[in-house]
Amino acid sequence: MQYPEFQFLSSKASQAEQRCYAFGIFEKNDTTPDTTHLTGEPLYHDVLMPLIKESQFTGKQGTTATANCFHTAGKVILVGLGKQEAIDQETIRQAAGLVYRTCAQLHSPSVVIHFATLLTQQNHLKAFAEGTLLAAYLDERFKSKKDTTITHLKKVYLLNAIEDDQTIQLAQQIITGANLARDLVNAPANHVTPSMLAETATELAQRHHLTLNILEKEDCARLGMGAYLSVTQGSSQPPKFIHLCYKPKSPNPPSAKIALIGKGVTFDSGGLNLKIGNAQIELMKYDMAGAAAVLGAAEAIGAIKPNKEIHFIIAATENMINGNATKPGDIVTASNGKTIEIDNTDAEGRLTLADALVYAEKLGVDAIVDLATLTGAMVVALGTRMAGIFGTDAQLINSLMAASPRTGEKIWQMPLESAYFEHMHSIVADMRNTGSKKGAGSITAALFLQQFVEKTAWAHLDIAGAVWTEKPWSYYNAGATGFGVRLLVDWLLNS
Ligand code: BES
Ligand code: MN
Ligand code: ZN
Repeated sequence: MQYPEFQFLSSKASQAEQRCYAFGIFEKNDTTPDTTHLTGEPLYHDVLMPLIKESQFTGKQGTTATANCFHTAGKVILVGLGKQEAIDQETIRQAAGLVYRTCAQLHSPSVVIHFATLLTQQNHLKAFAEGTLLAAYLDERFKSKKDTTITHLKKVYLLNAIEDDQTIQLAQQIITGANLARDLVNAPANHVTPSMLAETATELAQRHHLTLNILEKEDCARLGMGAYLSVTQGSSQPPKFIHLCYKPKSPNPPSAKIALIGKGVTFDSGGLNLKIGNAQIELMKYDMAGAAAVLGAAEAIGAIKPNKEIHFIIAATENMINGNATKPGDIVTASNGKTIEIDNTDAEGRLTLADALVYAEKLGVDAIVDLATLTGAMVVALGTRMAGIFGTDAQLINSLMAASPRTGEKIWQMPLESAYFEHMHSIVADMRNTGSKKGAGSITAALFLQQFVEKTAWAHLDIAGAVWTEKPWSYYNAGATGFGVRLLVDWLLNS
């Protein structure tokens, strides 16, 4: 990825050689923009006001207007920021993305940003850089010809911004992680196999000096991971149980020990309960998006180096069919001794996570957070722009929920209604892996996971809808969103 460089501009004199200016405009009311902060601009009378009038620009969030500017022999872009009192980090992140997109279409390799005094705040500067770097993401790895209808920004000049290179660097570290997650999710299952996830973890471990333990099939068998291994049985790809760990170097003990678990099913065919009809089997390369988020977080955490010990865990596998494949009705034993009747081989994510949760709890961590594209029911409940969060520990859930608005990655708390666990009753085993009744599919899945956590604070994010977008929106182009990386990193750094 070619990312633009940010540069702080201290004087307007140095703008002279720039060809493109982006002005953030507030909305006064539904019909009029607030132009008070523009009156001192040299371009105010000849360019900005005529453009506002002609395009009937109101400053509404998400809108743009562009014009050629004869004074600078370049372009002027207006970007709606919405009402000034409603500005938050996500407004700015989205506006930055919009500036990026607009410049790309206008073939401008550089831009000067005039966002009033918004970027004098550190959190706004960070959001601006994030929006820019997220919008810069374009996956052309599998295209034989690159898109020549756009020009990628090379330089972003920030005017009236706090000169804080560290904040820019932090944004770069986080978005490098988010975009790694997008790369992993966008790549198809013939490229991203469990072994490839393990190689990615190996590369991260080397570059950031993390410790890495990869458990092979036999190691997992020795640990009694019968639930996880049952999913791997029908695949020709060897499973890889990945355990990456970041330990701070500081002489002080870490302020917390955390385990992050990501569902890493690199392709979910459904198994013998094959995905048919509108089950979207062709999209199931993204069933490792939880794993991608965890590896993306490892990329960022390895660079940022906070004072927390963080474990990154992925029970990677494909869910496929061959003569060894798990059959509906099979009974397996998880590594905590609990027995599971596999009622439906397509409810495989929870089987892989069960053994990962048991493994994580044995590490003696303070909290476990898992991310999984676990249920289609989650997409029905919350759609594609937010994820559901489940758990038993109010403090853990609240701290994750607090990180959400700062990052723009939306999460909504779902109930862990224990009464529904009876739907998972099995005649022959401790439990079944699916609910006997229709309805509450995301909740029964979360209740199933809860069976594999004894006493550690635990939160489960069902990210099934949020990891993929069919259409571009905001700073995302179509495809993987990298959901979870920004949320996890913000939560790890700020709680
Ligand atoms: N990976 C799917 C969940 C999924 C479905 C994610 C659609 C994103 C979009 C998961 O393994 C699955 O198949 N879940 C089943 C569970 C059911 C069999 C109880 C589902 O949601 O249909
Ligand atoms: Mn499935
Ligand atoms: Zn799945």
